[in-house]
Amino acid sequence: MWSGLCHLVRARFGLGESVKLRRNRIGQTLPTRRGPRLQPATHPTVVFPRLALTGAAGGLGRELRRRLKPHCRLLRLSDRADLGLAAEGEELVTASLEDAAAVHGLLHGVDALVHLGGVSTEQPWSDILPANIVGVYNVYEAARKQGVKRIVLASSNHVTGFYRQDEVIDTRAPARPDGLYGVSKAFAENLSRFYFDRYGIETACLRIGSSFEKPRDRRMLSTWLSFDDLERLVVAALTSPVVGHTIVFGASDNRSSWWDNRLAAHLGYRPQDTSEVSRAAVEAAQPKLDTRDPAVIYQGGAFVRAGGS
Ligand SMILES: NC(=O)c1ccc[n+]([C@@H]2O[C@H](COP(=O)([O-])OP(=O)(O)OC[C@H]3O[C@@H](n4cnc5c(N)ncnc54)[C@H](O)[C@@H]3O)[C@@H](O)[C@H]2O)c1
Repeated sequence: MWSGLCHLVRARFGLGESVKLRRNRIGQTLPTRRGPRLQPATHPTVVFPRLALTGAAGGLGRELRRRLKPHCRLLRLSDRADLGLAAEGEELVTASLEDAAAVHGLLHGVDALVHLGGVSTEQPWSDILPANIVGVYNVYEAARKQGVKRIVLASSNHVTGFYRQDEVIDTRAPARPDGLYGVSKAFAENLSRFYFDRYGIETACLRIGSSFEKPRDRRMLSTWLSFDDLERLVVAALTSPVVGHTIVFGASDNRSSWWDNRLAAHLGYRPQDTSEVSRAAVEAAQPKLDTRDPAVIYQGGAFVRAGGS
């Protein structure tokens, strides 16, 4: 597998056989320090023959449905919820993630997958287990068997929600999930790491902050990811020449940020929006914060006190 990866990297970067390659801490394949440096991706226009998108009926799925279409000839959309009618160049697959056979069929003949499907908030374990644990396992097993080589995985900032809002963390910081939902996303990140190390399936884990049309409260001034920046991030993760296994925080260029993305610079993601344009309106709507409230102390916000019995 290693020699195959080296061959791929040499071919993509036009490097001769004499250039020695190494694997770095996050699993990227790079030239040795004495060799030429790889530049951050410039994102050549890649048109995938066949892309798949799970969770396509959800909030972000509906946004990405139209935004990913120019990047592929065929977009296979899946959800357990209604997806409406197929437009030209779309295929619709109604499937539950816990249905292994359906997930295997979904990934048949696919070049890359954007995996958004699953439970997206703190919910009882009985909901999280089939969708976010069994479901993500089905996705990676299907990718392995169907030969899908790259996955863009919707993870979440709730993997690290129990860090404080006065801390800045990067992706070396150990997981501190703020609930069972965050635990399930940490599982997905670890599972994807295993499938890269063992099988060479590349994954970009996007720890999405708060992706909505506008920031809705003060916390989102730090965590907001505009839909345009979400698209930039997903496209960067799909088209970056080398992803290996990379974790990246999904946020716009917000002035107050808790996340340092320098370890994911090779993806070439450049946010162009900022929550600053909404600051005055958000602060007027929410003038005071209770600084003793755990939702104000921790990065996960209200998720740190959601769920439980
Ligand atoms: N929106 C955000 O700000 C945000 C923040 C962090 C992480 N995320 C992650 O991004 C992804 C998309 O988020 P969203 O806001 O669009 O969520 P959403 O809840 O609107 O959409 C999730 C979709 O997954 C589908 N789904 C759920 N369980 C399923 C199952 N068992 N089988 C098949 N389909 C199933 C749902 O029907 C839904 O359409 C999720 O994985 C979420 O955890 C989103």
